[in-house]
Amino acid sequence: MTHEPYNKKAASDIVASFGARPEMLVQILHAFVDRFAWISEDAIRQLAAELNLSRADVHGVVSYYHDFRTEAPGKHIVKICEAEACQAMGSRTLSAYASASLGGEDVTLEPVYCLGNCACSPAIMVDGKTYGRVSSERFDEIMASLGESG
Ligand code: FES
Repeated sequence: MTHEPYNKKAASDIVASFGARPEMLVQILHAFVDRFAWISEDAIRQLAAELNLSRADVHGVVSYYHDFRTEAPGKHIVKICEAEACQAMGSRTLSAYASASLGGEDVTLEPVYCLGNCACSPAIMVDGKTYGRVSSERFDEIMASLGESG
């Protein structure tokens, strides 16, 4: 999963590919996150201008959805499923363990609500790859393997 830094030209191209229609804002924001990883203030300003919306309108939508992070993520993105099946198998404990053990590392930890891997809960996704039945030991192994691969 590689992202490029936000730039106005690429952002404009995305907006144009959705016909610059304000009702496509959510889809456009998804495309921004896919491309740039996060939604910056500059991006919000540009979206408001190009879609003829107020900045408050765009902010409102960005803050409503979990998917639209507003800070640059770390080098690795770890999503821990906190939906029902995974919670029943201890995902809260795993989340607490992860946030305690990841202090200071260049990792962004985010909750997610079902990864479609409920049969193998608790499930996590690391840099776009899903892992099932993740214990704290397994979590450490996965994180250590990231360090090795850079
Ligand atoms: S509830 Fe966690 S993967 Fe579905």
